[in-house]
Amino acid sequence: MAKLFLSLLLVALLQVCGGYKILVVFPSAGKSHNILGMGYVKHLLDAGHEVTYATPFPTHKTTDKYHEVDLSKNIAYFEEQTSTMLSLKAIINKETSMDLLSMAPKFVEMMKGMLVNEDLSKFLSDTTQEFDVVIAEWLFTDVFAGIAPLYNCPLIWSSSVEAHWMVLQLVHEPSNPSFNPNILASTIPPFSFFERFVNLFTMVAFTAAKYFYIQPNTVATYNDFFKPLYEKRGRQLPAYEEAVYNGTFMLTNSHTALSQPISVPPNVREIGGYHINPNPKPLPANLQKIMDEAKHGVIYFSMGTNAKSKDWPDSLKKEFLQLFSGLKQTVLWKFEEQLPNLPKNVHILNWAPQQSILAHPNIRLFITHGGLLSTTETVFFGVPTIVMPYGADQRINALRAVNKGYAKLVDLSYEMAADMKVAIEEVLSNPKYSEKVKELSQIYHDRPVSPGAELVHWVEHVVRTRGAPHLRSPALMLPWYQKMYLDLAVLILVILYVIKVVMKLLFRKVFRKAPITKKKTN
Ligand SMILES: *[C@@H]1O[C@H](CO)[C@@H](O)[C@H](O)[C@H]1NC(C)=O
Repeated sequence: MAKLFLSLLLVALLQVCGGYKILVVFPSAGKSHNILGMGYVKHLLDAGHEVTYATPFPTHKTTDKYHEVDLSKNIAYFEEQTSTMLSLKAIINKETSMDLLSMAPKFVEMMKGMLVNEDLSKFLSDTTQEFDVVIAEWLFTDVFAGIAPLYNCPLIWSSSVEAHWMVLQLVHEPSNPSFNPNILASTIPPFSFFERFVNLFTMVAFTAAKYFYIQPNTVATYNDFFKPLYEKRGRQLPAYEEAVYNGTFMLTNSHTALSQPISVPPNVREIGGYHINPNPKPLPANLQKIMDEAKHGVIYFSMGTNAKSKDWPDSLKKEFLQLFSGLKQTVLWKFEEQLPNLPKNVHILNWAPQQSILAHPNIRLFITHGGLLSTTETVFFGVPTIVMPYGADQRINALRAVNKGYAKLVDLSYEMAADMKVAIEEVLSNPKYSEKVKELSQIYHDRPVSPGAELVHWVEHVVRTRGAPHLRSPALMLPWYQKMYLDLAVLILVILYVIKVVMKLLFRKVFRKAPITKKKTN
């Protein structure tokens, strides 16, 4: 009895003062990815755990519960890699193409470059470090799977978007391409015959490219980078695929109010919106005043963190200002440079507290690039949008927003100011956009627990159950041809063939003999 009491006390003490040791790895130098990584850090720290965050954007505000691995060297590298890819001019001039087959291999290369960071390897080579669980962002490459087995602990994947086929195959199997678009697609279901074909083709072609080209290169990087780290711990590096398919859980930054319902295994959970503060910080005084005093409401215009204002063609800057000057509404334009001849109703913000702006009762419209974080925030706060997608998953987010009925899409072009004028008039005058987004907002908020609470619960569940093996999909135990019953198909073909051959022989015997016997009887 005393023993039982003691052990119960020990468990309780561990719960109170311990918390788990958690490593969160978000190596991408895209600012929105850091917002997602920071969301994990915040919720897990609030729940009393000890968190180490590997990020290109360290805050340098560490405590005894919060530590950082400084990956800021990734920033210059990222900007160099993406400067042409994400340049607005290049996109308007249609010099870059954004489909999966051309973009994904580039993203894979870029992310591999972010793994091979001397500060990361220095941190990982510290043999005194131990963790209870590793949370790693999946961004087109599986190579970061090598970190968790270094600490002999479970790996949780974080997907910055919904569970599309490329991430689903890590914990289950790829989804059916006939009604699940790939994440860089520019079509949404229901697909036409041609779109259905393209979606399947993209999947098959990328899988082949991955198998024959991308993966062998990635395995080489994996071996070079991780082998010395395992040797230092006197251990053997697990085979690449063993590490990759050992991931135990996946948290996805998605919600069906914004995307589409998809079937996923029980170890995949949607926590979209966990990065949002339900009680946004108060606005800075000047901005509060501007928004309070906007009699006809406020239009907020931001192209996100990657489309830099210096990339905007001058003619467009001028035409947008002219367009805005003709509106009754107050316009808040997030832009990194001051513009000359600014109309009275237009305010340029170098930095914008986006969530607080979207939460203000006077907000009428959000003109956005359609990044997933902005899209989630707009649904969270119930603000209709005009979307000008320029890359990554933005087009599919835009198409979905239009399809759900709370957005207008304006394509990037040198003539877009005219299209924008029409779109603004439509969204401001027709109440259906704002009604629709308020309805979706209600759907989004109608859930048993907040996404942050869900995040904490599943991370703790994975640690408590040592990797949640009870949730592991049996689909991972079979090779693809067995799942598709191709072995059975081959067997049936062989049987049919054998039957055919036997029948032929029998026929020959029967019919050759028959005339002879007939002759005899005659
Ligand atoms: C597989 O995951 C378990 C826990 O989920 C972990 O203890 C183990 O080290 C991992 N092994 C490899 C090879 O990744």
